[in-house]
Amino acid sequence: MRVIGIETSCDEAGVAVYDSHGGLLAHALRSQVGIHTQFGGVVPELASRDHVRHLVPLIRETVDRAGLRLGELDGVAYTAGPGLIGALLVGAAVGRSLAWALKVPAIAVHHMEGHLLAPLLEAEAPDFPFLALLVSGGHTMLVRVDRIGAYEVLGETRDDAAGEAFDKTAKQLGLGYPGGPAVAELARHGNPRRFHFPRPMTNRPGLDFSFSGLKTYAVNTLHEHGADRQTRADIAYAFQEAVVDTLLIKCRRAIEHTGLPRLIIAGGVGANQALRQRLGEYGLQSGVRVYYPPPELCTDNGAMIAYAGWRRLRAGQHAPLEIGARVRWPMDELPSVE
Ligand code: KG4
Ligand code: ZN
Repeated sequence: MRVIGIETSCDEAGVAVYDSHGGLLAHALRSQVGIHTQFGGVVPELASRDHVRHLVPLIRETVDRAGLRLGELDGVAYTAGPGLIGALLVGAAVGRSLAWALKVPAIAVHHMEGHLLAPLLEAEAPDFPFLALLVSGGHTMLVRVDRIGAYEVLGETRDDAAGEAFDKTAKQLGLGYPGGPAVAELARHGNPRRFHFPRPMTNRPGLDFSFSGLKTYAVNTLHEHGADRQTRADIAYAFQEAVVDTLLIKCRRAIEHTGLPRLIIAGGVGANQALRQRLGEYGLQSGVRVYYPPPELCTDNGAMIAYAGWRRLRAGQHAPLEIGARVRWPMDELPSVE
């Protein structure tokens, strides 16, 4: 079965073709960084307009690269939420219409389920059950995953998501958008001993997160110590360490509570090398197996949507004919797949 995946929940258009025998046949991305960077963040209306302009050509290009014709597709998967409504509607309208025109089933995919299943695209895929740390620009969650669609959210952020905290701190440090990679790069030049930032919500029980205070802490440190390049690098380092350490503490706690033997990391912040390294070390010490997708499948992409869509289409699920998208969509509302 060959499924095309279409992702347009935010500022990136991703398209991919997944083949149940051959794996990922092609994937392509149209990034809008150049458009939004001058505004220091995503402008929703500009994101939707760019998707309108580029999605159909991107689909043609990807199907071409996969060595297929449109008529050889067996299903269409598109992100239907959560995300920016205008951006989502472009992908949903194009995806649902394409399926109708091709007379194949369509499936509306939950963006975070896409992220969560991305590690299953790898040759060494994790078995169920596992603990998932989902860290993106819009979400920070710890999820117990017993099978596809059986998700128990154990903890989530009470304010900013981890990626959002990276983006806002980057802005304060005078770095571009998206902030995560820029802060990580600057942190490489930071002095590890200069500043120590707090680890929010780690000294009380529970698995929830809070990252907005860290951004404020970074701003205050900046005001107190000046904004020369070395100080900014030292702040970037201390900020990243605080985020990584906090995520590690909560993962460890969740593993201890649940006894789950596997941990997967997914979402844009999962591309962060410091996080990957620390969680990798934790895995070696604890015996917990840690999985993460390659960095390009951590950030938004069409491959994870094609894959998640295939798992649901294979189980006989499909989307109705009307075109719909959801800004908010709790993961525990998803139907399970046996
Ligand atoms: O999953 P994603 O591509 O989009 C959402 O679903 O939100 O995540 C984007 C987020 C952004 O906040 C970006 O700054 C962050 O992931 N990010 C990173 C890195 N690469 C992307 N954060 C830290 N380190 C990185 N290397
Ligand atoms: Zn995402």
